[in-house]
Amino acid sequence: MAKRIDVNDLNVYYSKFLAVEGVSINIEPKSVTAFIGPSGCGKSTFLRTLNRMHEVIPGGRVEGEVLLDGDDLYGPGVDPVTVRSQIGMVFQRPNPFPTMSIKDNVLAGVKLNGQKISKSDADALVEKSLRGANLWNEVKDRLDKPGSGLSGGQQQRLCIARTIAVKPDVILMDEPCSALDPISTLAIEDLINELKNDYTVVIVTHNMQQAARVSDKTAFFNIAGTGKPGKLIEFNDTAAIFSNPEQKATEDYVSGRFG
Ligand SMILES: Nc1ncnc2c1ncn2[C@@H]1O[C@H](COP(=O)(O)OP(=O)(O)O)[C@@H](O)[C@H]1O
Ligand SMILES: [Mg+2]
Repeated sequence: MAKRIDVNDLNVYYSKFLAVEGVSINIEPKSVTAFIGPSGCGKSTFLRTLNRMHEVIPGGRVEGEVLLDGDDLYGPGVDPVTVRSQIGMVFQRPNPFPTMSIKDNVLAGVKLNGQKISKSDADALVEKSLRGANLWNEVKDRLDKPGSGLSGGQQQRLCIARTIAVKPDVILMDEPCSALDPISTLAIEDLINELKNDYTVVIVTHNMQQAARVSDKTAFFNIAGTGKPGKLIEFNDTAAIFSNPEQKATEDYVSGRFG
């Protein structure tokens, strides 16, 4: 079930380095939110705090709150493994397990979470997840073949199928199309548009046309200089960010004057 995320005054550190400072943002359920901004401004770092992946990096820590439907993900006793099953992540490079079959790739996240599942339930879940990732028709006759035999765009949709098989509330994507050709990119964008019927989606993209095409809301992050923390500069409806931004820095960025 799609859930909302509310972030209150979040600071994100790599040891002593403050990489992202003072972010507050409200992400609505069943919507697509795009994070844009120049390289190094902390988009990926901030995204990883939303499912507690940041802290797997030594020295990685946060101050502030991230609430999932009101529950603090960083509260005492919260298990980060559970958080990561509620808030799934898709990465820049498709990362299926290369020797594993397509079917087992879809089930990999479910099995990692230790869920026991009967064969018939597994088959149904594989089909549902692959259909949900717009990949079923392309792979239904080769489910037992390795995932590495698929094209890059298909592999990325396989990774999305693996993510949705776990039945998350939120899907985070970090530049999911940056390694893909234009046709595969459009397939992923179509899929994102469908995913928002069931999930809350957050996507980092360096491609502003993509942000304009797929997102309802856009967050512009910026950095004042090397060694300075990234900050959220402006967050609004995507149409407003691209046509009528409030901040000059946003306007300069979306009009291509820097970054
Ligand atoms: N593993 C890491 N250890 C230390 N610093 C890091 C690490 N990953 C990223 N950073 C730093 O954090 C800042 C934000 O990086 P990143 O989140 O990757 O930006 P973006 O995704 O916007 O390009 C940069 O200064 C980067 O060098
Ligand atoms: Mg990044």
